This record gives sequence, C-alpha cells and structure tokens, in this order.
Amino acid sequence: MSRIYEALQKAESERALEKGEREPRTPEQLAQPVSPAPPPDFEPLAPALVTEAEYEVAPAAAPPRPRYVAPTPTSTAAVTKEPLDLTKIERRPWSPAFAKLPSLLHRGPAVEQFRSLRSRIFELRDLSPLKSILVSSGMPQEGKSFVSVNLALSLARHKNSKVLLIDGDMRRYSMHQILGCEAQPGLADYLAGKASIVEIMQRAEEMPSLESAKQPAFPNLTFIAGGNGGDKAADLSGSPRFGDLIRQASPYFDWIIIDSSPVLPVSDAVNLARFCDGVLLVARGGVTKYPVAQRAQSELKAAKVLGFVLNAVHEAPEVGSYYGYDSTNE
Ligand SMILES: Nc1ncnc2c1ncn2[C@@H]1O[C@H](COP(=O)(O)OP(=O)(O)OP(=O)(O)O)[C@@H](O)[C@H]1O
Ligand SMILES: [Mg+2]
Repeated sequence: MSRIYEALQKAESERALEKGEREPRTPEQLAQPVSPAPPPDFEPLAPALVTEAEYEVAPAAAPPRPRYVAPTPTSTAAVTKEPLDLTKIERRPWSPAFAKLPSLLHRGPAVEQFRSLRSRIFELRDLSPLKSILVSSGMPQEGKSFVSVNLALSLARHKNSKVLLIDGDMRRYSMHQILGCEAQPGLADYLAGKASIVEIMQRAEEMPSLESAKQPAFPNLTFIAGGNGGDKAADLSGSPRFGDLIRQASPYFDWIIIDSSPVLPVSDAVNLARFCDGVLLVARGGVTKYPVAQRAQSELKAAKVLGFVLNAVHEAPEVGSYYGYDSTNE
C-alpha cells in the first residue's frame, strides 16, 4: 500500500471519528467519489510532499475522458520577442490575507513543511531542469491556491530568489484575494491578445511586512492575476501564447509557480501543463479519495508529475525535518 493511500485513509478515518461516526469508514466507503462540498473550516496545517515514486498506481485506471482539443488562438496580436522591461511592472497596493500565508511566518509547522517541500523541489531540480511548476489537483477545494501561493513565497524567501506567481485558474481565480490586489488585467487578457506580458505583471506597492517575520513580505514576488477570462477560459488555456509567456519570462525568474483549475472537471490545467517543466498535485487529507488522486495523475500523464503534496493533514509523513532551522539564514 502506498504512503499517500495510507495517509489519505488515516486522515479520512480521523475526520470521520471527529465528526462523531462510531467506526472508521471502510475502504469501500472511502472509495466513494469525493464530495463537491467545500471542506469545513479548520486550523492551518502543514502540507507534506509525497513523491511520485512513492505513489502507487493501481491497475484499474478510470476510463479516459475525451481530450480537449486546443483551439486556434483567439487573437492574432503578435507576441513581442523583445526583452521584457521589468522596470515597467506596475506597483500596486496589496492587502494580503496574512492568515492564509503561513509561509511568511518566522517559524511554525507550516513554515517547516513548506521549507521541506521547497527542499524536495530543489532536489528534483538537481536531477533535471525545473523552473516552471504547475500546481493542480483532481477536484475543487483541495488547496491548490493555498499551496501555490505559500510555495511561491517560501521559494522567494530562499536566497532572495525571484519568483513569478501566476493565477492560471481563469475560471475561479482567487489568488488576488489572498494577496489582496486587483485581478485585472491578468493572464486571460494577455492570452486574448489584449495586454502585454509586462502589463499583466504586478508587484506590491509598499512591502507589507509581518512583525514576526522581521522582513519584507514580498520583496521578490511578481504576480500575474487571473484576468478577465469570462466564459472564454477553456479556449484561452489552449492558447500557445501561454508557452510564449513562460519562455519569455523564464530568463528573469528563478521560479515560476502556476496555480490552476482542478483537472477532473475541466481540461484547462492539462493544457497549461504542456508548457511547464513539472506538475505538483495536491491531495487534501480527509477529503481527497485515493481514486480521485489516481485519476488526476492519469489525466496529466503527458506532463511531468513531480509528486503529490498531501495538504491539511494532522501528521505529516516524515520527509525530512528542518526544526530549529533559523529563517534568517534563508
Ligand atoms: N492546509 C490548509 N490549512 C488551512 N486551510 C486550508 C489549507 N489548505 C487550504 N485551506 C483553505 O481551504 C479552502 C480551499 O483552499 P484553496 O482555495 O487553496 O483550494 P483550491 O484547490 O485552490 O480550490 P479551487 O479548486 O476552488 O480553486 C480555502 O479557504 C483555503 O484557505
Ligand atoms: Mg484555487
């Protein structure tokens, strides 16, 4: 039995017991489709990475879903091949929801787990080129946006790395709410040919700082919001302009983290993944069913799945400990 299955099952049993069910749920009950209802509120818990090698693929795969066929670009607007002038990026006022950004804290379990995740990513980068990472999951509300933004900030805090964070969920973009900034113009506007790359990038006007962090919160973060996609999100996600964006932005950043839609209901993330170096899949403890995680991985088989982030679990699997590590050394 794989570690992710064990962890998902344990978290599910714990949650069932917390809800007052007398007996832990059976494997058959656990295999029921995931509920679309959002999970109940709970204290922030640390995510943990389980690599693909530890993820066991069961022989009975879900029947394949018809593939999305990439449409012709919706705009003929030429993509500039000029170098990007990042000094022109607009600085805007941000009012971040700090409660959703535990990776900014000085220390704590979430900080430690995001550092562990970051370390695993560094290890993977040592094995093969890795800069653009798409974050996805099987179903809604599993923590893609939470993991994306906190991973991006954790990476940005390491040796002043320059990080580009993109809200690639053009249907239900929410990253701007976490960062407390405008959602437009954003990715959808660029993909539709209505704005240039630099026009959709934004940075925080004044560096908001957390007293406990004793350092600026967003010194190295550049953000691209979801933008005004409306009902065109599916078409836009298939645009080759996304590949141009990643290619043109790459030389200026150490990391590019892209949040995305869930892969089982819609194909947007699969389209975006074609242009990324790797994909991180999120599974939520006590919510994500094993077959759902399995099907999500199988949807992304054409991409390089780096591993699973097991989000919101009470006890993270042992993947390396950094307790006692002082963030001032980052
Ligand atoms: N580890 C965590 N601890 C506490 N709250 C969390 C955690 N992960 C996610 N959440 C909360 O759960 C909710 C859903 O998370 P999030 O928006 O990141 O999911 P999502 O997969 O991006 O959802 P969607 O598919 O709708 O975009 C949010 O309110 C978020 O703050
Ligand atoms: Mg999201």
